[in-house]
Amino acid sequence: MNKAKVQKANIDWKNLPFGYVKTDYNIRYYYKNGQWSAGELSSDEIIPLHMAAPCLHYGQEAFEGLKAFETVDGRIVAFRPDENAKRLERSCERIFIPKISENMFLDAIKRVVAANARFVPPFGTGASLYIRPLVIGTGAKVGLGPAEEYLFIVFVTPVGPYYKGGFKPVRALVIEEFDRAAPQGVGDCKVGGNYAAGLRGSEYGHKRNFPIVLYLDPKEKRYIDEFSTSNFVAIKGSTYISPDSPTILQSITNKSLGVIAEELGMNVERRQVDIAELELFDEVGAVGTAAVITPVYSITYREKEYIFGTPDAAGPVITKLYDRLTKIQTGEVEDTHGWLFEIEV
Ligand code: COI
Repeated sequence: MNKAKVQKANIDWKNLPFGYVKTDYNIRYYYKNGQWSAGELSSDEIIPLHMAAPCLHYGQEAFEGLKAFETVDGRIVAFRPDENAKRLERSCERIFIPKISENMFLDAIKRVVAANARFVPPFGTGASLYIRPLVIGTGAKVGLGPAEEYLFIVFVTPVGPYYKGGFKPVRALVIEEFDRAAPQGVGDCKVGGNYAAGLRGSEYGHKRNFPIVLYLDPKEKRYIDEFSTSNFVAIKGSTYISPDSPTILQSITNKSLGVIAEELGMNVERRQVDIAELELFDEVGAVGTAAVITPVYSITYREKEYIFGTPDAAGPVITKLYDRLTKIQTGEVEDTHGWLFEIEV
């Protein structure tokens, strides 16, 4: 067992927002002449970038989000980083970024988390170390085409809950006015452009007091796609339902919760979810690395508000799923699937 005997940073861990906190190191890998460098730790928060870099003009950029935790017995673990490596590989392939191997990705996670061990929130605080890998097309190029040089960088920052109040229900608004993804576009990839496209919908929702917005499929506007920040999950009786759509991100949290739901004796359905089904659901959640499972107590669609439980507390099934997932992440429930990736400090 690898007890983390690190003197922790002086941070108010229990009141951390989901924001940027300066840590000691990030790690950088450079791609030049057809190969990636070995990776180096840097304490610089600034990256030197040519103004003609394709990431700036043509959005040739992909990223990831995952978390590390301190377990009940003092280990430091990352949650399913191999899945993030695979998803990044898919995103890169789609926008012509050279392959980042799973080995290279895991090497980056190990090195950058170990170097910042004092920023991994102590067990029991509810906070975690958010890990943000990103890869950008660099070098000078003005014509439209993939860059010849790239930078893969991973930084970390300790975070609290994404939505204010933590595990507390929020209300959502269905956005039909704008789309975040195109039918045959890159909605299923974790690329910056999807999130930039979603800013308009989020802003529309925030102005109307909805912290989160829900998108429908961009082709028919009939099926539920995903939330601005996370996947959509509904509970109906003992069934866990989540959309199967070519324009949504494959959430690793959603995938893990599906496994947990089955272990709890639930049926899991991944299929097209008609917006007309809203009135049939008992509980709704927004699921993702940052959102974990944020309970959604109401969804407003075309002036009608659909209610799932109360604004005061999450429903019983979402509570059970949340408890089980977060306890696996902190080692309080046995990790029978090998989801925890231990990091030597
Ligand atoms: C994540 O959940 O890790 C994301 O990247 C979503 C982002 C809006 C914070």
